[in-house]
Amino acid sequence: MRPSYYADDSVTLHHGQAVEVLSKLKASSVDCCVTSPPYFGLRDYGVDGQIGAEESPAEFITNLVAVFREARRVLADDGTCWVNLGDSFASSASWGRGGSSQLEGRKHDAAQMSRPSPERSFGVPPKNLLGMPWRVAFAMQDDGWILRNAIVWHKPNAMPESVTDRLSTRYEMVFMFTKFRRYGFDLDPIRQGHTMKPQRRPAGRPVDAIPGGIGQPRQSWSTAAREDLGVDGHPLGKNPGDVWEIATTPFPGAHFAVFPPELPRRCILAGCKPGGTVLDPFSGSGTTGMVALQNGRKYIGIDLNREYLDLSLRTRLSNGVLDFAGEA
Ligand SMILES: C[S@@+](CC[C@H](N)C(=O)[O-])C[C@H]1O[C@@H](n2cnc3c(N)ncnc32)[C@H](O)[C@@H]1O
Repeated sequence: MRPSYYADDSVTLHHGQAVEVLSKLKASSVDCCVTSPPYFGLRDYGVDGQIGAEESPAEFITNLVAVFREARRVLADDGTCWVNLGDSFASSASWGRGGSSQLEGRKHDAAQMSRPSPERSFGVPPKNLLGMPWRVAFAMQDDGWILRNAIVWHKPNAMPESVTDRLSTRYEMVFMFTKFRRYGFDLDPIRQGHTMKPQRRPAGRPVDAIPGGIGQPRQSWSTAAREDLGVDGHPLGKNPGDVWEIATTPFPGAHFAVFPPELPRRCILAGCKPGGTVLDPFSGSGTTGMVALQNGRKYIGIDLNREYLDLSLRTRLSNGVLDFAGEA
């Protein structure tokens, strides 16, 4: 076992390279992984060896696959792994060294952190969208993960962009992976209210005969599918689907790439059994940990930047659990 940076009954934090720390953790010791790795070529987290600063997409993907290979070993066989990734354009994915930690202030934004680095090769001409989330997802699939969901996180308050020759980016991806075909998943805690009043199908009446029905032979729709469509209302609400509209929330003092708490909340409630342990190998300000604790789970966080671990202990993982989104 590796000595931890911090440990109490519910929280363990490790300082170091995610891949190295994970390799020392016990196999099958966590129930769920929820994380947001650095994006390729976008931000400088102020530490040597950080992921995202690689010279090429291929190196970035290799490094992430190695981290998640270790995470898979640490994950229980019925566990789930949720990975949030945003995309980069070949022209903007030019990260410069020498930037200081973004903990120093919010003056750093994506544009300020990006400096031209013509020697970097992206394998495609400038301005190309790299498709990085999907490249990583396919590489993880090739490495043995089962990709179960590709969730679009739509940000209604996404950062404005000054581009006029393409559409501005308003979403990121959240992938759900599993180790095996059978795994723990509970839809009920994240069901959402029905948009239309659920229609109880009168006994013996086919679904396609219901006004506003789905026009399909009754026998082709399972109970779950009818509930998903709102034809038969599940008392706890419908499946939230794979497009999640969640506004970003600022967190004073941290780098700005923090999870809105609602995002890890959905992953944890559906993908981690009550009382289980949630892992975030790129812990940052500790949002995943805060939400895990708020929902009766334990937390293991890893980060290469000691300042972020300290920040998370002072704020989100402290007894009072400060949450600037007001959701504490
Ligand atoms: C996008 S941020 C995570 C933000 C987090 N989801 C939150 O809500 O605060 C990525 C984090 O990964 C950390 N990091 C970068 N490279 C790392 C590595 N090789 N091992 C561990 N942590 C790393 C950075 O220091 C940063 O805190």
